Amino acid sequence: MDTAEISKARMVSKSHDVESSWDDEFKKLVQNFPKERSWAGSNLYFYQGFWCPSLVLKAFISFQKHFQAFNSDVIVATFPKCGTTWLKALTFSTLYRNQFPWDENPLLTFGPHQLVRFFEYDLYLNNPFPDLRNVCAYQPRLFSTHAPYATLPTSIKDSGCKIVYICRNPMDMFISLWLFAAKLRDKNRESLSLDEAFDKFYHGISAHGPFFDHVLGYWKASQENPNKILFLNFEDLKEDMDSHLKNLAMFLGVPFTDDEEKQGVVEKIAKICSFENLKELEVNKKGVHTTGIPHTHFFRKGEVGDWSNYLKPFMIECLEKLIQEKLNGSGLTFKLSSKTSNNIASP
Ligand code: A3P
Repeated sequence: MDTAEISKARMVSKSHDVESSWDDEFKKLVQNFPKERSWAGSNLYFYQGFWCPSLVLKAFISFQKHFQAFNSDVIVATFPKCGTTWLKALTFSTLYRNQFPWDENPLLTFGPHQLVRFFEYDLYLNNPFPDLRNVCAYQPRLFSTHAPYATLPTSIKDSGCKIVYICRNPMDMFISLWLFAAKLRDKNRESLSLDEAFDKFYHGISAHGPFFDHVLGYWKASQENPNKILFLNFEDLKEDMDSHLKNLAMFLGVPFTDDEEKQGVVEKIAKICSFENLKELEVNKKGVHTTGIPHTHFFRKGEVGDWSNYLKPFMIECLEKLIQEKLNGSGLTFKLSSKTSNNIASP
C-alpha cells in the first residue's frame, strides 16, 4: 500500500470505529436521530436540521456546547468543497501578513488545514475540552468550521468575532464532492454512482447539508450583519481576486496600505494562495490531515464550470430548477461558468 492508501485505510477505519467508541449516554442521545449513508460510506446523523458525519458528531456537539469565542476571533466557515482550503490560505496570509517575513510564509511548509484548524474535524475531534490558548501560532485566533450558521455556538453568534464564508455554485460543488467522496471510500465498497450521488444531493443529503440551507443561512446572516459576516463566492474570487482580497483585508480590520499596494502585496498573496502554487508545494503533495485525509485530495482542478464534463442533461435541468426555487427572493446569485451569460439569479 502506498502512503495515500494507508491514510485512506486509517481514515475509513476511524469513521467506522467512531460509533463503536461512543459511550452509552451518547449512543442513547443519538439513537433517535434520523440516519443516512454518507457518500463515502459511513453514517450521517440528522442533528438540528443538518446531516452531520458520524466521525465528527460528538466533536461537533462538544464544540457547540463549550467553545467560548473572543471578540477578536476570526472564523472561516464553509460548506465542504466550496473553497475551504483556498479561503484558509487567503485569510491566513492576509490577516498575519505582517507577522512573518514574506519568504517564510508558513503556507510554504504547512498545509492550509494545519494552519487554520477545524473545530469539529481537528481541535474537538479527540478532546471535548481542548486547550485553545496556544493552538494558534498568531493572533488574533483563526479557526474554521463546516457547521451551519444556525448551529453555531451562541458565543460565536453573540460576540464580536468575525466570520468569513465562501460559497460555490452547486454544480461544481456537487462534482467536486462526488469525486472527493470516491477517493475516501473504502476500496472494498463500490463508489457511489453519479446518479446515486445526485439523488442524495437533490434531497439535501450530504455531509453538513442540505447545501442550500447551509448557504442561505450564512447569506441571510451576512445580509443582516455585514460587519460580522463576509460572504464570498468561489467564482468571484476566480474572476477578480484583487478587489475581493482588498475587501477581505478591510473586513478583517487590516486594510492594505498604499505602500503595500504599491509593493504588490495583494498580488503576492493571491499568487501564494493560488491553486497552481499550493498544489505543487511538497507539504500539500505529501502531508496528511488529522482525519487521515491526504492533503493532496484537497487539490483537484480548482476551476469554474467543470460540472459540464460530468452532469447529465436531466441533472442540469433539475439543478437549474432547484437553484431557482431555493434562491427565490433571497437576492443570492450563482455563477455557473466563467461566461457571465450562464448565471442563475434569484428572481
Ligand atoms: P475541484 O474538485 O472542483 O477541483 P474544499 O477546500 O472546500 O475542500 O474545496 C476543494 C475544491 O477547491 C476542489 O475543487 C479544489 O481543487 C479547489 N481548490 C483547492 N485549493 C484551491 C485554490 N487555491 N484555488 C482554487 N481552487 C482550489
